[in-house]
Amino acid sequence: MAQEDVFKKVVSHCKEYGFVFPSSDIYDGLGAVYDYGQNGVEMKNNIKQYWWQSMVLMHENIVGIDSAIFMHPTIWKASGHVDAFNDPLIDNRDSKKRYRADVLIEEQIAKYEEKVEKEVAKARKRFGDAFDEQKYRETSPKVAEDLAKRDALHERYSKAMNAMDLDELRQIILDEEIVCPISGTRNWTEVRQFNLMFKTEMGSTADGASTIYLRPETAQGIFVNYLNVQKTGRMKIPFGIAQIGKAFRNEIVARQFIFRMREFEQMEMQFFIKPGTELDWFQTWKKTRMAWHQNLGFGAENYRFHDHEKLAHYANAATDIEFKMPFGFKEVEGIHSRTNFDLSQHEKYSGKSIKYFDPELNESYTPYVIETSIGVDRMFLSVMCHSYQEEQLENGETRVVLKLPAAIAPVKLAVMPLTKKDGLPEKAREIIDELKFHFNCQYDEKDSIGKRYRRQDAIGTPYCVTVDHQSLEDNTVTIRFRDTMEQERVNISGLLGIIEDKVSITSLLKKLK
Ligand code: GAP
Repeated sequence: MAQEDVFKKVVSHCKEYGFVFPSSDIYDGLGAVYDYGQNGVEMKNNIKQYWWQSMVLMHENIVGIDSAIFMHPTIWKASGHVDAFNDPLIDNRDSKKRYRADVLIEEQIAKYEEKVEKEVAKARKRFGDAFDEQKYRETSPKVAEDLAKRDALHERYSKAMNAMDLDELRQIILDEEIVCPISGTRNWTEVRQFNLMFKTEMGSTADGASTIYLRPETAQGIFVNYLNVQKTGRMKIPFGIAQIGKAFRNEIVARQFIFRMREFEQMEMQFFIKPGTELDWFQTWKKTRMAWHQNLGFGAENYRFHDHEKLAHYANAATDIEFKMPFGFKEVEGIHSRTNFDLSQHEKYSGKSIKYFDPELNESYTPYVIETSIGVDRMFLSVMCHSYQEEQLENGETRVVLKLPAAIAPVKLAVMPLTKKDGLPEKAREIIDELKFHFNCQYDEKDSIGKRYRRQDAIGTPYCVTVDHQSLEDNTVTIRFRDTMEQERVNISGLLGIIEDKVSITSLLKKLK
């Protein structure tokens, strides 16, 4: 199946099976805002649990907080968001559509890369088994020409972005003959800066009301609480503070479903360290976070690091963990070495000392920070895209199945009485009443067993149990495994032992060790 089709199918599957709905759906939705349905919220909670427990349970020196969304407006001045949290935007005069200038150029760079890949694929087909891909990449004049164009464009673009030279960004768009995908024309406006923070007012609208912002990242809530936590928790450096919460950005180009939203959720951890140790800790957290992703079993080849060439003024190292989505490798998580920029800024703007007294060195300093920052929704999307599969069965039917890691699946066990009579529903309910304290169970008695299996496959339920007349006699049931569709007769008393460990977050965490 073409990757574009996979993505479309994932989006409609999410809606059809209660994972993700457009927000305000009966009013035709609200741009780039989404609601999670009955299955989506369970799955999202499992992802959050996996992250939270891997941070807070697995590290003695990491604790969590839950800070407010509304924060003192000066915080955003200190952090640089008021002055510099901007995207360069450009309008097409004919379609009246607005774009991010940097995204248009990055897409153009990607086009050169796609051309190279197409060229290589064509050659592979032409030469068959005798094809030496590496040699072809090194010697083909066409490949060399496209790579040279890509590199030249990349260099020019990086320079323009580093200098935030808006005229140059526009000139690149003109020189590359980039057209608006809607109107097909090159009738572009100037490039302008656009601040991404949402504003609102706190207090009455008369005197005294102040402009406040919906937080664009959860990290600042951690920075401004750093000393509270350090003192009350008697934390010693190195230590971390983790937080999961909503963030808001008025994204200009909000598309690709829940990949780029205006209201989204982040899982962030700031790790406070001694100055000078940051590059070692940066490497440690890169490894730790990549292991967390790969532990889900989606294949190492679907992840890569993308080290930043253009560093934010406060960072001395930064990388993204990218996942292969149906629309290419995309950032899911950022890992940043933020120096002592944020804490120093808050010290300056608040006028309060937030230095750490290091008892071992017998001196005070402003800690450096390594940040790991992952979007819950992007993580959700990557899990969905990878797990969605259409399988051709021997009987000619197609089965749609979500091969979710069992610990992430919204429902762990479906219990199905073969018929709605003869005491089978009661027996099925008995099983649920026993197991529901351990994991999420669902009762399902409607339609044929085959249809019920399909319904559970479509939401990724790893285990189904069928209760039949024999169950009343010998307390056995048929358990059916989602991925293999194999069935086994087992004793009801053995169900907990078969399922519990496999569906628990603990099982995932143990594999991390
Ligand atoms: N505190 C650092 C920070 O916020 P970021 O790279 O801007 O860094 C971190 O964001 C992560 O948050 C991203 O890797 C992504 O997963 C998620 N994220 C950012 N903007 C998003 C959006 N508009 N919609 C969904 N997720 C987003």
